[in-house]
Amino acid sequence: MTEPRPEHDQIKVISMPHMPRPVFVFSLFASIAAGTASLPAMAEDASALLQRLAHADEQQGVSVSEIASVSQSPFADMAELGEALFFDTNLSANRTMACATCHDPSMAFKDPRVDVASGAFSLGDDGKSLGDRNAPMAAYAKFSPPFHIREDGVAVGGQFWDGRAKDLAEQAGGPPLNPIEMGMPDKASIIARLREDEDYVAGFKALFGDDVWSDADQAYGAMTQAIAAFEQDEQFAPFDSKYDRFLRGEYKMTPQEELGRVLFFSQQFTNCNTCHMLKTSPTAEGETFTNYEFHNIGVPRNVATRNANGKDVAFTDNGLLDNAEIEDPSYRGKYKTPSLRNVAVTGPYMHNGVFADLETVVRFYNKYNSKAEVNQTNPETGKPWGEPEVVETISRDKLEQGDALDDKRIDAIVAFLKTLTDARYEPLLATQQASKEN
Ligand code: HEC
Ligand code: HEC
Repeated sequence: MTEPRPEHDQIKVISMPHMPRPVFVFSLFASIAAGTASLPAMAEDASALLQRLAHADEQQGVSVSEIASVSQSPFADMAELGEALFFDTNLSANRTMACATCHDPSMAFKDPRVDVASGAFSLGDDGKSLGDRNAPMAAYAKFSPPFHIREDGVAVGGQFWDGRAKDLAEQAGGPPLNPIEMGMPDKASIIARLREDEDYVAGFKALFGDDVWSDADQAYGAMTQAIAAFEQDEQFAPFDSKYDRFLRGEYKMTPQEELGRVLFFSQQFTNCNTCHMLKTSPTAEGETFTNYEFHNIGVPRNVATRNANGKDVAFTDNGLLDNAEIEDPSYRGKYKTPSLRNVAVTGPYMHNGVFADLETVVRFYNKYNSKAEVNQTNPETGKPWGEPEVVETISRDKLEQGDALDDKRIDAIVAFLKTLTDARYEPLLATQQASKEN
């Protein structure tokens, strides 16, 4: 189910100049993660170990022998092992690419590289392959429930735009074997790479048992479990945006942000919360800004980027229909509703990165409820909105609820969406503003 989709993903970029290698700024990462994560592969010192053993009986569900065995490991726990793996370029064929290349912690764990395909698609380890879907942020991904079809027939949850991985561990098994991403030939070759590192050899044994290396499937499963454990870490979901601070009484919204908030959650003026609200109350903490339902909102083909990379412009991405569990064509062209957390710093937007600017996205929704000529134009191209990639499954009933939005309301909704930026990424908002003005 997590098998790569090379047939329609395989695009070769003609005469791509050699790309600069991504550089991971560990010091930045460490400061981002301050207090929550230590650097990978650092053993606990002896006195700390003794202290933990002394208090072992107070730690619920953790026995002395468990702590002792983990302490043989260079990694304190599964998440710390997962952290090392997440940043490890040895999981890719040419050793150039880690998960973090496309899910960079300095940018909400999404792909920060904008020099290829305007940031819409990700360049693979071979330096020439491009995918055909925008890399979503791995931040807040852990809240997506396992993929399932609800009683009312609506598909919900899973990982990837089409939910084809049921959870984070299954997801993590995909990219290393995907020929256009990390490009390793098979599980055995990845396991051989891991075994080059003594810390992994010892760490896997301590965390998963002595026979973990005895077969490739078992070791690969352990690797994906460890990566998923790292993605559970608090730094992936700090809930410390202006919006969260507002809920806790620590931040006062500007009048414009407050207007945007009211519009966003209103039943009458907009439809946003029909799909982008998880909790039942608009002031509940821990809102992820998606109910994880799949919908087709009529996103146009990304013609400009496909033109640039030589991909067949007429190719249609089937969305949810690519999920192995789905055969019913009425699910064609639907995508998992993305979280709107950090959305102001994680453009370009939609499954195919077709819109560069957040304001364009809000104007796009407005086309469903405003018949005015000006709202039938994409401000980024100056032309009418492109034809939806798949027309017949659009969730029109939901999209056509609500009023036409005037400029003041559009700006307010954009201002509100900016308040969903995690505290550590707030400086990026200023950078984006500056580049827009230039
Ligand atoms: C070459 C870039 C690239 C690499 C390397 C990569 N990813 Fe991704 N990732 C993507 C793209 C593109 C998608 C969306 C693909 C789709 O939906 O079909 C994605 C989707 C995801 C998602 C799903 C998020 C969601 O909201 O559905 C998670 C989680 C994730 N990746 C984590 C990882 C992990 C862990 C690794 C390393 C094992 C990794 N990625 C390696 C590009 C990459
Ligand atoms: C019918 C459900 C639905 C409604 C209503 C809806 N959305 Fe969405 N939204 C989605 C889906 C699904 C996507 C992804 C579509 C795709 O990529 O093809 C999306 C994408 C987005 C994105 C881009 C996120 C990203 O990371 O690429 C933004 C921003 C957004 N919606 C904001 C809003 C706002 C603001 C409103 C109200 C004006 C709204 N949405 C109404 C389902 C919905």
